[in-house]
Amino acid sequence: MANRAASYVLAAVCLLVLAATVAEARHPRLVPAVFVFGDSTVDVGNNNDLNISVGARANYPKYGVDFPGSVPTGRFSNGLNTADLLARALGFKRSPPAYLSLTKKTVTPQMYKGINFASGGSGFADDTGRFLFGEVIPMSKQLEYFSGVVKHMTKLSGAKKTSSFLCRSIFLISAGSNDMFEYSASPGPSDDYKFLSGLVAAYKQSITALYEMGARKFSVISVPPLGCLPSQRLRRLKQMGTQGCFDPLNDLSLRSYPMLAAMLQDLARDLPGMAYSLADAFTMVSFVFENPRTDAWSFTELEAACCGGGPFGAAYACNETASLCADRDGHLFWDADHPTQAVSLVAAQTIFAGNRTFVNPINVRELALL
Ligand SMILES: *[C@@H]1O[C@H](CO)[C@@H](O)[C@H](O)[C@H]1NC(C)=O
Ligand SMILES: *[C@@H]1O[C@H](CO)[C@@H](O)[C@H](O)[C@H]1NC(C)=O
Ligand SMILES: *[C@@H]1O[C@H](CO)[C@@H](O)[C@H](O)[C@H]1NC(C)=O
Repeated sequence: MANRAASYVLAAVCLLVLAATVAEARHPRLVPAVFVFGDSTVDVGNNNDLNISVGARANYPKYGVDFPGSVPTGRFSNGLNTADLLARALGFKRSPPAYLSLTKKTVTPQMYKGINFASGGSGFADDTGRFLFGEVIPMSKQLEYFSGVVKHMTKLSGAKKTSSFLCRSIFLISAGSNDMFEYSASPGPSDDYKFLSGLVAAYKQSITALYEMGARKFSVISVPPLGCLPSQRLRRLKQMGTQGCFDPLNDLSLRSYPMLAAMLQDLARDLPGMAYSLADAFTMVSFVFENPRTDAWSFTELEAACCGGGPFGAAYACNETASLCADRDGHLFWDADHPTQAVSLVAAQTIFAGNRTFVNPINVRELALL
């Protein structure tokens, strides 16, 4: 199979380098670095010092209440997010830090371990989040920042070392939700298929751009059932007066998955050495909804946000004066639009080591070991 052949090529290229750096091979990390792109699901603080409204920042209480030291860091979570926990599963002590938190001096050592470019509120379209929140960093700009890092690395380490380093690293992408929110909120006539085709085309363009810069191993997280977020349950309640998930958004995320899967499969056939792991976030979250209690987890509140107020904890923002639930680990949702650390851990573990129901064609552990 083309996929397998491509994997062999990738393995061969990378083996040469592994042999050359025996000391590094003993390190517990499965890959040399993780680079992160996307939105608030994986942002670790890139928005903190930008001109952005509170809705797309999380650098104030009660965000971070369960983070070490109870500090708000810009993560849209009570604690760690999926990017942090996936990096930990890959053997990293520290999650890749926010690109915009680095200085000219600190970016150099850090670029050999990984950097996070993700920005809450952003999307694939350049204007996603812009009118709603301000200067969020669109995917095109995140890629531009990464391109600068690659140039810097090439200057310091040479083209050969840089490409063998990048081909072993993991590129995590979690994006698309905000494009979907804005499409779903825009008035006037809509064409779902056209929108989704455009979204998947933008995804393809971004992955191709990363590939051209040297990336080979992609961990992609699909769009979750957005209609079941507390904010969208509230939206349905307000618009229709009924309880439940907001179906039009769930339909969009459900329909986007096979399109994304097909695009990645085609791309891996066309780009020599490209490998990927696609996490089906829709199926992952649906599985937790249907199985809130298992040997591995126990969720008692599947609908309401832990931090916030009003119906579903979604009518009033999560901030310093907001009320907080007692059992954070029992809640699926931290605020109106984001998961708790507890469910992010389930997600990260599934992305890392889950079976084919949740991650295809391989999981991130297998991707790392290619
Ligand atoms: C910040 O953004 C707002 C609107 O989004 C704008 O009116 C304001 O001028 C900006 N401030 C700065 C310092 O750029
Ligand atoms: C928190 O949010 C509520 C409404 O969502 C607002 O009324 C209140 O002023 C905010 N508090 C702070 C400290 O920003
Ligand atoms: C994957 O694991 C889930 C949960 O344990 C299980 O329900 C499902 O049948 C498994 N799928 C495969 C393909 O093994």
